[in-house]
Amino acid sequence: MKSVVILISGRGSNMRSIVEAGVPARICAVISNRPDAAGLDYAREHGIPTAVVDHTAFADRAAFDAALSAEIDRHAPDLVVLAGFMRILTPEFVDRYRARMINIHPSLLPAFTGLHTHRRAIEAGCKVAGVTVHFVTGELDGGPIIAQTAVPVLPHDSEATLAARVLAQEHVLYPDVVRWFATGRLSLRDGRAVLADDDTPAGGALRVPGADV
Ligand code: GAR
Repeated sequence: MKSVVILISGRGSNMRSIVEAGVPARICAVISNRPDAAGLDYAREHGIPTAVVDHTAFADRAAFDAALSAEIDRHAPDLVVLAGFMRILTPEFVDRYRARMINIHPSLLPAFTGLHTHRRAIEAGCKVAGVTVHFVTGELDGGPIIAQTAVPVLPHDSEATLAARVLAQEHVLYPDVVRWFATGRLSLRDGRAVLADDDTPAGGALRVPGADV
């Protein structure tokens, strides 16, 4: 069975969705850069080993990333899952986990990298928003896209209502992608995400709830 380390910074609802989905993988640790991340409590309560690598305790990004990778490597994971992990990573760190580190981002990338994605989508007048899961490269919220789910932006949406609609889809999509990796179907080839043995018309990786793709 493949082993997975999940990195969080806060609430940890995506981490929780992966744990609750019962993906066929061993979740060997949940690591946070913030000691007060609420998701740590959930992991502890569910018997998952946790660790904190507090970024404020390190002189610079390189020192923090070195300590973080040492903590990750203790578990020798097949996959590193960034689940609301809100730190910019050094190129050395990203290279170390090339093709085995994935991230979830609450927008239809490459639109709206960074923060406040929902507010910016509403302000721009977007009619669709969504979520993206991608392999991590050195680019912030960049890298080969694995899967996306689109949701409508409704006329009276606030940042909160749109965020909730997207988050509900995050909790469906991320466990599916982790399952694909865990079962050996997902890989990175020539800079593109490839999903093997897929017989759905859209490759299983495009979801537009309500549309038959
Ligand atoms: C999620 O919406 C995730 O997509 C986003 O942070 C939230 C974490 O929630 N990630 C990013 O913005 C990464 N750039 P969670 O802690 O409840 O999973």
